[in-house]
Amino acid sequence: MRTRTRFDRAYFDRWYRDPRHRVLDATEIARRTALVLSVAEYVLERPVRSALDVGCGEGNWRAPLLARRPRLRYVGVDPSEYVVRRYGRRRNILRGSAEALDALPLRGPFDVVIASGVLNFLADDALRRTVRSVARLTSGVAFLELFTTADDVLGDTHGWRRRTAAFYRRVLHGAGFAQCGPHCYAVRGSAAALAALERVR
Ligand SMILES: C[S@@+](CC[C@H](N)C(=O)[O-])C[C@H]1O[C@@H](n2cnc3c(N)ncnc32)[C@H](O)[C@@H]1O
Repeated sequence: MRTRTRFDRAYFDRWYRDPRHRVLDATEIARRTALVLSVAEYVLERPVRSALDVGCGEGNWRAPLLARRPRLRYVGVDPSEYVVRRYGRRRNILRGSAEALDALPLRGPFDVVIASGVLNFLADDALRRTVRSVARLTSGVAFLELFTTADDVLGDTHGWRRRTAAFYRRVLHGAGFAQCGPHCYAVRGSAAALAALERVR
């Protein structure tokens, strides 16, 4: 997939600004932000200080994260030329891809790692590599949005890989993740600190 050029200004106008196609507005992103911060702070037992947003697009999570945690360090990563040209410096977005996170100067780990609307685009090997890198980069909770063959999905699904929930669970568990909320996963020490019925593994 030509990710550098496909995710251009027209793509974001259509899926994020045009009321006929838009599926995710600022209110919904604010709701998701509140969810992730709450789950991560519950797990970490302290305020969240850093967030990595993988496949961040225009960095729409940044403002609601900073509205709630003004001192938070936000880093976005996206392969889109348009995104990095327009928002790279202003929103601290680095050019890069999910499957090559280890090549970037990210200064992790991060209390929160977000991968929203991006993992379904990755081929099997790239997905496994990404999930392993994200596990290494997460000190609190990762928000890993994934839809399966059991889900009806609205929005842009062009180029999506359709896989079963069992497949994704194997990949996530293989990287050490335990589910601890909607699309929320804890890893290593933070997962071990959760009670048996606070996590699904
Ligand atoms: C549907 S948008 C999601 C944007 C944002 N995460 C959100 O929740 O609004 C998909 C984004 O994934 C990015 N993307 C596509 N392939 C990628 C890859 N291999 N690694 C990282 N990002 C990728 C695109 O450039 C685009 O910005």
